[in-house]
Amino acid sequence: MCGIVGYLGKKNTKEILLSGLKELEYRGYDSAGIAVLQNGNFSNYKAVGKLVNLEKKTKNFITNGFAIGIGHTRWATHGKPTELNAHPHIGENSYVVHNGIIENYVEIKKDLKNDGVNFLSQTDTEVIVHLFEKNLKSEKSAFGAFKKTISKLDGAYAILLVTKSENDTIFYAKHGSPMLFGVNAENEKYFASSDTPLIGQCSHVNYFEDGDYGYVSASEIVIFDKNNIKKDAVLSALSENKLSAQKDGFRFFMEKEIYEQGEVISDTLLGRITENEVIFDEIPKDLFDGIKELKLCACGTSYHSALSASYLFERYSKIKTSVEIASEFRYREPIMSKDTLFVVISQSGETADTLETLKMAKNAGLKTLVICNVDNSSMVRLADATILTRAGIEKGVASTKAFATQITVFWMLTLYIAKIKKSLSNKKISRQISLLREVPSVVKVTNEMHEKIKRISKRYLHGHGFFFIGRDIFFPLALEGALKLKEISYLHAEGYPSGEMKHGPIALADPELFTIALLPEHLHFEKSKSNVEELSARDSTICAISAVEFEKADDFIQISKCKDYMLEFFEMMVVVQLLSLEISIRLGNDVDMPRNLAKSVTVE
Ligand code: G6P
Repeated sequence: MCGIVGYLGKKNTKEILLSGLKELEYRGYDSAGIAVLQNGNFSNYKAVGKLVNLEKKTKNFITNGFAIGIGHTRWATHGKPTELNAHPHIGENSYVVHNGIIENYVEIKKDLKNDGVNFLSQTDTEVIVHLFEKNLKSEKSAFGAFKKTISKLDGAYAILLVTKSENDTIFYAKHGSPMLFGVNAENEKYFASSDTPLIGQCSHVNYFEDGDYGYVSASEIVIFDKNNIKKDAVLSALSENKLSAQKDGFRFFMEKEIYEQGEVISDTLLGRITENEVIFDEIPKDLFDGIKELKLCACGTSYHSALSASYLFERYSKIKTSVEIASEFRYREPIMSKDTLFVVISQSGETADTLETLKMAKNAGLKTLVICNVDNSSMVRLADATILTRAGIEKGVASTKAFATQITVFWMLTLYIAKIKKSLSNKKISRQISLLREVPSVVKVTNEMHEKIKRISKRYLHGHGFFFIGRDIFFPLALEGALKLKEISYLHAEGYPSGEMKHGPIALADPELFTIALLPEHLHFEKSKSNVEELSARDSTICAISAVEFEKADDFIQISKCKDYMLEFFEMMVVVQLLSLEISIRLGNDVDMPRNLAKSVTVE
């Protein structure tokens, strides 16, 4: 996801900005840029792709003496990854970088356009710099104009702005997106969206609170809080460990990635939903013309998201859907007909088996679509159409946020197809979209929930096996829960359809068999409950996950009351991820790099 750096001092500003951006590379990005103000003149460079492209462009650019600069790595959300959409964005005499979303940018843009302002990019960010310059004409000072500007912005942001009218000052604001500021003994000043770029450069940092805004110059550090009251910086010593800083204080990347899910799902939804419609500008309008069937193909966690999607496609889009494990599909001489859209799902876009099935489908003349997290990956380059999941780089080998964003994309795609095929009324589509909007808050991890799971986890460190059980779309979620657990705890776990337990597995039931029961209130609750009761009667140890109290459970993890089973799905997803995480931590395993596993499997 996007990253921000800022610098004010006498060193080579370009080098400082570029090395800061390098430290943010792990977050993922598709373009980058810097703007430097020295002796009243701006230099601005942008490049699409990796930082090495920006390094090439800035090869002959150096600063001597005092300068100020801002830099940004962009992960495209509003508008494609092009140079024009890369930050910093320019006004007449100012530049801005921004992380987050300006929710009311459309209205602001409309007003500014009416005033004759010309926009160069498709981003929400560009409105900030133009609004600032408009306010500069009416306000007495640049700071007054900046303050007025941010008071008009809705949404989440971390902003740095530099302007010729105050050429030794960086203006900043933070609301909902991270930002900190650092100093050192040489009186240099740094900004960044996370600690890592500042490690080794600064001795002390101030983490801004939501609502903080102000400016920093060579001689001043000015901070106002959300109530417009001036306050002092709270400087704390900066850690010297880069790896732990990248983890933002979490014990493992997987934990950080579980906590990030609300944020990344917001990015997945960004610009793709209106009140009554899903918009995928990135896929050709005629992709579904002549299509009667969907075939989804993937491996591992991505296979589980495909299985989940098949329930949604048949239920809401009324389109026949089948799901295949890529390594099986390749060798079983499958029949492929041209009225089938072949959809591959992959976090990495490089998994060898999945890639091969995509080639097979292409060779058979099928239309193809890839749902992927990595732009420019082999699958993205090969498929006819791509929908990017926008989860940012996933470091934990056990996939979490990638799965969450895949499901989000599939849910959106279901509604997209339902609209084309008129299988759902507009009213029903609007309802589903309003549910989708709730997902980012549903997946937020609460302290209470995490503590409860931490406590419960100590009872699940042994036993002769785990059964994760669920019905309907909760069956693939059970499969995914079991996969998470076995990947990082090395305990035996299986996912099973609740109704199928009596056809064999129930023979294993005893107190040392742990059943993790997914009991959604809004989907087959009574039926699923009976299946769990059958296991409880045979003395299996039950951990139930539900919004509804379940007295037969030995342990009970209560999720919040939701309006719809899909919201329950997302909350239960977080619960099973955390449960695996806590069990694995108690067992002393390396959560992020479990034994025998690889993040991207490029061999068959
Ligand atoms: C590996 C990873 C899994 C992942 C699977 C498919 O096994 O460890 O986490 O689900 O590959 O990867 P893909 O990148 O295609 O989603």
